[in-house]
Amino acid sequence: MKCAKIAGLGKCLPSKILTNADLEKMVDTTDEWITTRTGIKERRIVDKGVAASHLGVEASKIALERAGISPSIIDLIIVTTITPDTQFPSTACYIQEALGASRAACFDLSAACSGFVYGLTTAVQFVKTGLYKNVLVVSSEVLSAITDWQDRSTCVLFGDGAGAAVITEGDQDSVLGVYMGSDGSETEVLSLPAGGSRIPTSQYSLDNRLHYMKMQGNELFRIAVRVMVDAAKRALKKAAVNVADISLLIPHQANERIITAVAKRLRIPQDKVYMNISRYGNMSSASTIVAFCEAWEEGLIKSGDIVVLDTFGGGLVWASAVIKWL
Ligand code: ACO
Repeated sequence: MKCAKIAGLGKCLPSKILTNADLEKMVDTTDEWITTRTGIKERRIVDKGVAASHLGVEASKIALERAGISPSIIDLIIVTTITPDTQFPSTACYIQEALGASRAACFDLSAACSGFVYGLTTAVQFVKTGLYKNVLVVSSEVLSAITDWQDRSTCVLFGDGAGAAVITEGDQDSVLGVYMGSDGSETEVLSLPAGGSRIPTSQYSLDNRLHYMKMQGNELFRIAVRVMVDAAKRALKKAAVNVADISLLIPHQANERIITAVAKRLRIPQDKVYMNISRYGNMSSASTIVAFCEAWEEGLIKSGDIVVLDTFGGGLVWASAVIKWL
């Protein structure tokens, strides 16, 4: 087996900020409710006409530059998103064209908020088997496009953004252990009901607002804590890494209370937990990679550090990866 190295990270956040005060004018909510229940103060929202691929391209350019990789030698582009530019072609193909990565194979991967860890795991397999040398993983979301701005129970939670990682053949493995889980019996807890083949877009789906995300927040909260703790423990076991050796836990940024509960159950002190939810809200698959990239940019991740990514999302799907920063 070859070794697969994380060679560069990048991110792109839209410049437009939507604050809790702005939301107070749109739905029956308060800054106090949003802050105490979720930890979110503001989120980024794209301008009209900006799609997932546009954010993804900008994040990719930064990751590729940091990795010292030219788009022309990318073998594979994997995009994780629940808000693709179009049902097809894949968002990966749009990104390929914009980057000029003409020799890359391209596909999208759907694993909701766990997308980045699923994508990273997939990329690593391609490099370790020797099939490909340079893989670009992009997690990009324009959740504002599928958010019901009349539903206060969901619209306060989400934001737009993108992150990217370059995985290349190296001397050592960056990913020491992973765990991915799913539970298809809980599809109703969080979904975008219409727009696919199950409920094609129609006047009925539009009238009933079925083209927007639906979520049973309470139920998700309970499941999230349990599965994130379990996933991290399993990934740590596979990596043969102790909790005490973790330098930084980077969890999916869905709710500050979920993050705090997960860290407490894993016995990881809060100063080893990375959070940027107050600034960006939940960006689904982009949350984890944006947080990973920011933590690195802030100098919180140094060579030899052990970083644990821990995610869950609609599906349900959950995943954790134990990473050694090389
Ligand atoms: N402002 C004011 N009040 C509100 C708002 C709001 N924005 N939203 C809901 N409320 C009210 C409710 O109507 C309810 O009122 P009631 O008691 O009179 O009925 C009350 O607040 C409590 O509502 P709950 O839903 O019980 O609030 P909870 O404390 O559970 O917080 C939340 C809701 C924040 C959604 C939480 O359940 C949560 O974070 N769940 C997890 C969500 C998540 O992690 N999603 C991740 C996956 S995302 C993906 O995959 C794309």
